[in-house]
Amino acid sequence: MSAIHPPAERLWWKHPLDRVEGTWIVIAFVWCMVMFFMMVYWHVYGKQNLSTETYKTTPDKFTAKAQAVVDKYTVRTETEQKVPVVAPPEGSDVYLVARLWSWWPILELEKGKTYKLHLTALDYNHGFSLQPSNLNIQVVPGYEHVVKVTPNQSGTFSIVCNEYCGINHHTMVGRIYVK
Ligand code: CUA
Repeated sequence: MSAIHPPAERLWWKHPLDRVEGTWIVIAFVWCMVMFFMMVYWHVYGKQNLSTETYKTTPDKFTAKAQAVVDKYTVRTETEQKVPVVAPPEGSDVYLVARLWSWWPILELEKGKTYKLHLTALDYNHGFSLQPSNLNIQVVPGYEHVVKVTPNQSGTFSIVCNEYCGINHHTMVGRIYVK
């Protein structure tokens, strides 16, 4: 018997395991284990999958809080859709809403200052991926994810959705300015 040709006998489970096949099963299993423990390792040492505090919320509750901050700290609007650019003071709570297919509002933060970023999704699962830094946070509907952020680089950053969320997933981009 070889690992390439199908077994001549139909009762394949009664055949002894071929050495090549067995070797590949072992390799695949070892690799599964490597990948599994890499998830834990990379969470601790990779600095890319952030630990967030997570609370239950509803779209209405979250939107109300986000709207209050937007009303208070909007400095201008951008793009044809008039997306508010929000520049909140140091140490304050900052809200970011993910929904089909946008990140709202645009944030303007200052380098070296700390903010509490709150994230939720109003409809489906979305993925917050900050580019080019490659920071990732899962954004799950019904939950408010809170993460402390202290930008250490100035510039213009993009938020791309990295969780497939439908036909316009690829257009779901947002922006964060760091001054
Ligand atoms: Cu939101 Cu993909």
